[in-house]
Amino acid sequence: MKHNSWILGPALALVVIGATFKLSHAQNAAPVPTPVPAPKIENPRPPAATQLAPQGTSTPAMQAPAAGQPPASGQKRLSYNACNVEGPYIAITFDDGPSATLTPRLLDMLKARGIKATFFVLGQCVVANPDVLKRAAAEGHEIGNHSWDHKALTKGGPAAIAMEVNQTNAAIEQACGKRPTLIRPPYGATNTSVTKRLNEDYGLKVILWDVDPLDWKVRNSAHVTSEILKHTQDGSIILAHDIHPSTIEAMPATLDALLKKGFKFVTVSELIAMDRPQLPPKKEAPAAPTPAKSPSQKKH
Ligand code: NI
Repeated sequence: MKHNSWILGPALALVVIGATFKLSHAQNAAPVPTPVPAPKIENPRPPAATQLAPQGTSTPAMQAPAAGQPPASGQKRLSYNACNVEGPYIAITFDDGPSATLTPRLLDMLKARGIKATFFVLGQCVVANPDVLKRAAAEGHEIGNHSWDHKALTKGGPAAIAMEVNQTNAAIEQACGKRPTLIRPPYGATNTSVTKRLNEDYGLKVILWDVDPLDWKVRNSAHVTSEILKHTQDGSIILAHDIHPSTIEAMPATLDALLKKGFKFVTVSELIAMDRPQLPPKKEAPAAPTPAKSPSQKKH
């Protein structure tokens, strides 16, 4: 009947708008405590929801699909959002560099505090700034693969993954003499088959994160600091980007405050070595529903 569809149309539109607002609000409005999707079995932390836009573009943030992929019990863990560690150990990670100007400034800050970090670098930036990468590795930081040019690994086939991974590994190895053992997929975008391929075909552990200050989006140092301090806990993997001046400017206060809280910085591989995957999930994990994976969410 006509009047029914006339009413139903706008009503449906309102529901869709409401749901869309709720979704983007929950993912992007950093100051509001985010109702986190619950991990399924093993990971006590929420999967990462959003990540960075590619360098120099204004592409909207993508949503990381089902990060973590907790394996069935007894199976090897293939990806990490955070680790279950005994003690105040954390890993801070910096993506999308190396930058010719900002990364050296960051390295000075880390050196002054005796902090080891992990850099997930783009192959194309490594070939542009090999000396910066060499310095980072020489000063004890871990270097991980972040693809060649920040393309989502879920969008290309096996040949595209091979190019992204192999060219970047080769550039890293040429610059610093070490082959990476970790990869952070651009946007945190992965799925079971990509994660499995990265592990089995390339010997790369997939590293996501549990602390995201959205520093690519909110270019405000005080915000970056407060978000990191608010969410970091034992075993956290912190996501940041050494290509934004606001992030670099946030680091002295952020690092000093984390040290003052008693946190100890280790590289991601060191954190994984301390991981106790058999621990039962924390209390809040089992009850909450798993996030819906509607086609509209996946398309972002
Ligand atoms: Ni990135």
